[in-house]
Amino acid sequence: MLQNIIDELTLYEKMVLKALESLNYESSPEKIAEIQNMDIKAVMSAAGSLASKDLIEVQKDVDEVISLSNTGKEYAEEGLPERRILMALKDEEVIPMKDLGTAAGLHPSEVKVAIGWLLKKKWAVIDKGNVRITEEGKSSVSKEHSDELLLDKLLEVQKLLLFNPSKLISEGFNLLKKRKGLIDVKKESKYNLKLTENGKQLVEIGIEIKEQATQLTHEQLKTGSWKNLEYRSYDVHAEHPETFPGKMHPLQRTIEDIRQIFLKMGFTESQGSILESAFWNFDCLFQPQDHAAREMQDTFYIKEPKYVNLPSKELVEKVADAHENGGYTGSEGWGYSWDVEVAKQSVLRTHTTCVSARFLAEHKPPLKMFSVGRVFRRETITYKHLPEFHQVEGIVAADDITFRNLLGILKEFYHKLGFEVRFRPAYFPYTYLSVECEIYLPDKQTWIELGGAGMFRPEVLEPLRIETPVAAFGLGIERLAMLRLDIKDIRMLYKSDIGWLRHLPVKME
Ligand code: DAH
Repeated sequence: MLQNIIDELTLYEKMVLKALESLNYESSPEKIAEIQNMDIKAVMSAAGSLASKDLIEVQKDVDEVISLSNTGKEYAEEGLPERRILMALKDEEVIPMKDLGTAAGLHPSEVKVAIGWLLKKKWAVIDKGNVRITEEGKSSVSKEHSDELLLDKLLEVQKLLLFNPSKLISEGFNLLKKRKGLIDVKKESKYNLKLTENGKQLVEIGIEIKEQATQLTHEQLKTGSWKNLEYRSYDVHAEHPETFPGKMHPLQRTIEDIRQIFLKMGFTESQGSILESAFWNFDCLFQPQDHAAREMQDTFYIKEPKYVNLPSKELVEKVADAHENGGYTGSEGWGYSWDVEVAKQSVLRTHTTCVSARFLAEHKPPLKMFSVGRVFRRETITYKHLPEFHQVEGIVAADDITFRNLLGILKEFYHKLGFEVRFRPAYFPYTYLSVECEIYLPDKQTWIELGGAGMFRPEVLEPLRIETPVAAFGLGIERLAMLRLDIKDIRMLYKSDIGWLRHLPVKME
């Protein structure tokens, strides 16, 4: 474990640890930089990463530091203006106010302030327009005041900590800070690096500093010499910032996976339009015109265009016959009077089975076709139902296609998606035999219904002039997606909840 940590250390991290080991486990970054001959920035960045691994502790202290400004330096070298007056008074004793500047070699702008300080320090008094030296002044000629001592000191050492126990510094600073622009006060951060218990254990194991390859050259790759180099190991479990690469929406992802399965099974893909005639959606599928599914409360009828064109007269007549008396299908039909006006109505398709009907009208068997698309039903929106959803529909037509083949295809399809499937007898107007497919949910130990399938009836096939058996199926997609995503509410698929979408895997299992 500790050895792993050592193996993952960068060269700079190792150098900092080594230095701390030799410096009794703690030191300033400056000292480490000096003894390891490193840049201070490299020391600090290595310290940051060592601290994040809990190998060292970085202690930070902020100090206030004082130093001389340019004017401060000038005064330190040439003396404060009141000192220069004092030096002039030393010889003269009394100097008229007006001559003071010239006598002391001061700029006129400095004189007023200088007199102020002269009086404050009691070095002189003013007497009828003259400035006269005092006893205090005389004894100060060879004795520097605390502000002057601080100026000298700063000139010598350049900077000092403000919080200093020395009386000289605090007194001097209190005086100097009253004058503008002599002293600069700056905050300086000081760091102390200290090995933690973990860090100590690590250096006890022994850290070896050796040459490690960081960037491989073309040459090393070509000659194979990369095989003999030392590499730093890295922690593949280390924390990393989260990234959210662009990816397909999970519903679209499911659709794409389904498409791939059928394409790989050799099916051709077809498409229809969502606006369909009742003829293709219902009539052609031998769904009687008074069938419950056709009711307004189940199906969306379109106002504009209210009617759509029907296919060839021949096909329409054959479908009419199938409904009315069975035509040449060997069936008795439904035995009612078929209304072409009802068949012409435009609807939003209620299933994709109409795509299969249209495909059969235009293609001769043998064939395998699938299509994926949106379908529409008048449903109240709930956690289980939406008024529009997707289906995958398919047909397989050939002389020797049987009901068993149909079940085999469906089994294969669901297995590829990772589900167990079973079949229950069912009824659809357009198929015989008919089944419902159910898949098994191991977590809940239940089966749920996902679609229908069956062999198209002669009443469907004969008008379309199809002479082979046709196995057909139509399966819901949203429920499958919900199972794959483990969500309980179908609306989630259409909510575009960005937080949820971001955290989904790019590829679903
Ligand atoms: N159209 C049916 C539905 O929407 C599903 C279906 C059942 C499609 C049997 C078929 C089929 O092709 O043969 O529920």
